Amino acid sequence: MARLQITDTILRDAHQSQAATRMRMEEMLPACEILDSIGYWSLECWGGATFDSCLRFLNEDPWERLRTLRKALPNTKLQMLFRGQNILGYKHYADDIVERFVRKAIENGIDVIRIFDALNDIRNLEASIKFTKKYGGICEAALSYTVSPVHSEDYFVRLAKELVQMGADVICIKDMANLLLPYDAYSLVKRLKSEIDVPIHLHTHNTAGTGDMTYLMAVQAGVDIVDCALSALGNGTAQPATEPLVATLAGTEYDTGLDIQKLAAASRYFLGVSDRLKADGFISDKSLKVDTNILMYQVPGGMLSNLVSQLRQAGAEDKYYDVLEEIPRVRKDFGYPPLVTPTSQIVGTQAVLNVISGARYKMFTKESKAVLAGEYGMLPAPVNEDVRRLAIGDKEVITCRPADILEPEYEKCAAEIADLAESEEDVLSYALFPQVARKFFEQRAAAREETVDLMPSHAQAAAVEGASESIRTLYVDDAAL
Ligand code: CO
Repeated sequence: MARLQITDTILRDAHQSQAATRMRMEEMLPACEILDSIGYWSLECWGGATFDSCLRFLNEDPWERLRTLRKALPNTKLQMLFRGQNILGYKHYADDIVERFVRKAIENGIDVIRIFDALNDIRNLEASIKFTKKYGGICEAALSYTVSPVHSEDYFVRLAKELVQMGADVICIKDMANLLLPYDAYSLVKRLKSEIDVPIHLHTHNTAGTGDMTYLMAVQAGVDIVDCALSALGNGTAQPATEPLVATLAGTEYDTGLDIQKLAAASRYFLGVSDRLKADGFISDKSLKVDTNILMYQVPGGMLSNLVSQLRQAGAEDKYYDVLEEIPRVRKDFGYPPLVTPTSQIVGTQAVLNVISGARYKMFTKESKAVLAGEYGMLPAPVNEDVRRLAIGDKEVITCRPADILEPEYEKCAAEIADLAESEEDVLSYALFPQVARKFFEQRAAAREETVDLMPSHAQAAAVEGASESIRTLYVDDAAL
């Protein structure tokens, strides 16, 4: 059967890519009933930047968000994005933290864990794949897709085979920067379908305007699942919109079987959320327009806005195109890492330094040195040895799995946050984002004291009742759409 299945990213990547990850829990809940009735393969709702954003900006406990979504979406698989040994952070964590995090994510409601490594170093995926299997999750291992002299189709097919051997239940082609062009998608999917036996899941963005065409070609090559976002927050820097693809395939052998009326109703609800995000300045018109700089410089959309702000801070906005041209050169010197968190930030910042300091590699960031010293794992191609020597001198380069040299961390973290942590989940939040989590726990404790002091218990009960009533009203409104 060739039926195409769909993962909707409306609760994760769509608002991460378009709206700085600012969608709130209370904005998700009213749509859950209808989302749960659609029949998606999965709903991506956690991981990536959502965890950090909950704690840092939204004053929400990310674990509580997950448990709430689990209850509100009982019939749909919940999916998360996981950065291999970096978990949801920006550096390597010890294996004991990886194991506990995977176990708790599954216990709190996650079904599918999509695991990637920025360098495609499979040693950085070993632990998370093993623990996902151990605790009963569906393990979706990802190829971080990029374009370079070493990233051939053969390279990705070989990598996919290794990941299947390691236990992957599904292989994801993760085209985070929207570089996978339609005919290349056809060819890669065709090869993967003929050479491996697990389902193929394709993830792209529509930044350069090629996303829908890429999906259509991949569908014809036999792809099993694709990532879309409901049109209210689809396209632009987010995923291609769900409804056009569903309509395109209706009545063909690839028919998704999804009800376009229901999709339209759900999307109509999220238009209101999108308006709120726009009003608060989190969605810019630029992120909705086709941007072909990506195709020329291989720079992902999110990186471009970062660059602009870094240059503005340095008073060097006129150097924008010089920096864009410097990025591919730095990437080559660093052994062609795919540009995805955290390598996109590292390469981008180094390119800015090279341009504004007046001489290439006069200065290095700590992270650039770490990449060149092997601390993030093996780079896809040989690095420029002259640049490496400038960065780290004669220091020995790490060639083992980077996490092998890390001591267990959990007990140390638990002791550090013993005054405020109330659960293993709290300790894990702290392990990933120490300052941010501590501040969140302090606010949580303070808010609780205030509530107890200021509100007699009958008033508290009335407040809770009022809040749930307003949510019920929203449900009713939505059901009427
Ligand atoms: Co993405």
